[in-house]
Amino acid sequence: MSESKKKQTLLKVDKLKVHFELKRESWFSDKPVVHAVDGVSFDINLGQTLGLVGESGCGKTTTGRAILGLVKSTEGTISFEGTNLGLVPPKKMLQLRQRMQIIFQDPYSALNPRQTAGDLVLDPLLVHNIGNSKERQERVDELFSLVGLQKNQQLLYPHQFSGGQRQRICIARALALKPDFIVCDEPVSALDVAIQAQILNLLCKLQDELNLTFLFISHDLAVIQHVCDEIAVMYLGVIVEKASRLELFDNPRHPYTRALLSAVLSGSPDIKVDRIRLEGDIPNPINKPTGCRFRTRCSFAKEICSEMEPVLEEKSVGHWEACHFQTTSN
Ligand SMILES: Nc1ncnc2c1ncn2[C@@H]1O[C@H](COP(=O)(O)OP(=O)(O)OP(=O)(O)O)[C@@H](O)[C@H]1O
Ligand code: SF4
Ligand SMILES: [Mg+2]
Repeated sequence: MSESKKKQTLLKVDKLKVHFELKRESWFSDKPVVHAVDGVSFDINLGQTLGLVGESGCGKTTTGRAILGLVKSTEGTISFEGTNLGLVPPKKMLQLRQRMQIIFQDPYSALNPRQTAGDLVLDPLLVHNIGNSKERQERVDELFSLVGLQKNQQLLYPHQFSGGQRQRICIARALALKPDFIVCDEPVSALDVAIQAQILNLLCKLQDELNLTFLFISHDLAVIQHVCDEIAVMYLGVIVEKASRLELFDNPRHPYTRALLSAVLSGSPDIKVDRIRLEGDIPNPINKPTGCRFRTRCSFAKEICSEMEPVLEEKSVGHWEACHFQTTSN
């Protein structure tokens, strides 16, 4: 891919917040608010993959769903090819949404068990009234071949496929309307490790062939490492570190990133990462800690960490971190 293409921003997320108001516990209490996404900003360039990583509940899925308009943003803007999606009229939004798709973690529950695989892939073409029946069938054949499924498998039902094959059907469905951007939300977490590699390879191959742009969500840094150009590490609704894949794995800065990495890569002789144990659970996003959200689990925390929230700053070229201190030796 040419450098100029790589540098074109396709998606821009700016200060995104998604807060969920829950029911009051009593008439006299305030409504509890879940700060699921609490001021997240990033860009994704055309044809590139941004990995969003963090523990369960940190707001990864909510970020992806807000980008696609599947959940309402509380604040902030999302721009696609320079167009602010919050200002787009509904008809234009329908067209834009065809170009933005999602692949979920659990391929079985994403597929209607009463439809054949062929019909499942045909569905989006019918709903959007694309082509005539011959053209639609040709497109379904083409999509089956693209994702490595056989034409005669179009007549089978979801339960007649393996987990990896079902994810291939979901990928074919997501590709049906020729999207430019796909949110891959834990697309391999439900699969055996050997099958995970096949699906990740397929996604990388499709990205190259179709010049796709991915937001790749995972709680697993080992998976993220294989597919992403850039990585953003999320903790309790905010991004605490962002860098290119190589930089993040070579020079992780934030104590949280280093704790995640040392848990995953402690067995790898090639990765130099000081061991930081991640203790305790992620706090409740209804009562987030004051100051730095990570302070209740951070072994470097000082007084200022409970008083001031650190901002995400560019600490070296292209490497962003939200921490009051330099806690690494480099
Ligand atoms: N519709 C909702 N109403 C209330 N709270 C919600 C809603 N959706 C998500 N949340 C809460 O928002 C927070 C972020 O959830 P989200 O699903 O985005 O996390 P995640 O990082 O994708 O986690 P996981 O790795 O488990 O998928 C969680 O505390 C979750 O319980
Ligand atoms: S700001 Fe303080 S608590 Fe937060 S990561 Fe840095 S040292 Fe730890
Ligand atoms: Mg999730």
